[in-house]
Amino acid sequence: MPGNTPSENAVYTHGHHESVLRSHTWRTAANSAAYLIGELKPGMRILDIGCGPGTITADLASLVPGGQVTGVDTAADILVQARQVADERGLENVEFGTADVHALDYPDGSFDVVHAHQVLQHVGDPVRALTEMRRVTAPGGLVAARDSDYAAMTWYPCPPGLDDWLELYHRVARAGGGEPDAGRRLKSWALHAGFTDITTTSTAWTFSTEDERAWWSGLWADRTTQSAYARLAVDGGHATTAELADIAEAWREWGRQDDAWFSVLHGEILCRA
Ligand SMILES: C[S@@+](CC[C@H](N)C(=O)[O-])C[C@H]1O[C@@H](n2cnc3c(N)ncnc32)[C@H](O)[C@@H]1O
Repeated sequence: MPGNTPSENAVYTHGHHESVLRSHTWRTAANSAAYLIGELKPGMRILDIGCGPGTITADLASLVPGGQVTGVDTAADILVQARQVADERGLENVEFGTADVHALDYPDGSFDVVHAHQVLQHVGDPVRALTEMRRVTAPGGLVAARDSDYAAMTWYPCPPGLDDWLELYHRVARAGGGEPDAGRRLKSWALHAGFTDITTTSTAWTFSTEDERAWWSGLWADRTTQSAYARLAVDGGHATTAELADIAEAWREWGRQDDAWFSVLHGEILCRA
């Protein structure tokens, strides 16, 4: 990367452990990018930044027949899985490569839509990221971003262990250079990036059936003890392995309650370039 080109200095909190990918691979354009779908048209060129295992990317490719979708991520390893997803679906209009959102290697105005789902909360400079997303978007095109907002997540019942989980997550994510309460900040970041035409919405994922509770609580219990997040928590002196085990057990116990309910609020922005 040339001289003073800005590059990622934040740590991606979750990493790509199986417990993390369990939730990423569940994602679809319908459950994660509904605010954008109505804007898509055949033939569009889309850049999906921080595409991870590519299930949303592949859906976007299906929604723009005759168009071209490019998925990029800083982590080369996860792109192997993303390519597999596209191959299994027989998609021919999608390709993947490595890129850092702070310094995209594309000429100005290369895409009709530039999309990032659950990415800006993890980057070191979200305003710089949105500025760069805007640069590679054609005039009149769209920059679309959706991020959860951890402090706005809400649940019932409320065991103290889940409060401990939230408090610890905030500390670990911020120590790594991210902003876990990103959903509420997207509009502000977009304004600072120079956008003037910004549509804001919010939507939530809800987990409450027996299967949903088992899945959501299980993946968080496993992330808490086995993922890169667990390692960052212990290595950074934020928690002991015993404390992580207690949080994981609080998640499992919460998931066993018939009346349990969890809501993950997301902020969304559609910005006209
Ligand atoms: C929470 S995952 C979201 C994956 C996918 N968009 C989804 O919603 O399923 C965030 C992804 O962003 C990637 N990432 C983190 N920092 C990035 C950066 N500076 N530029 C591009 N990708 C980045 C991570 O490697 C990770 O795959």
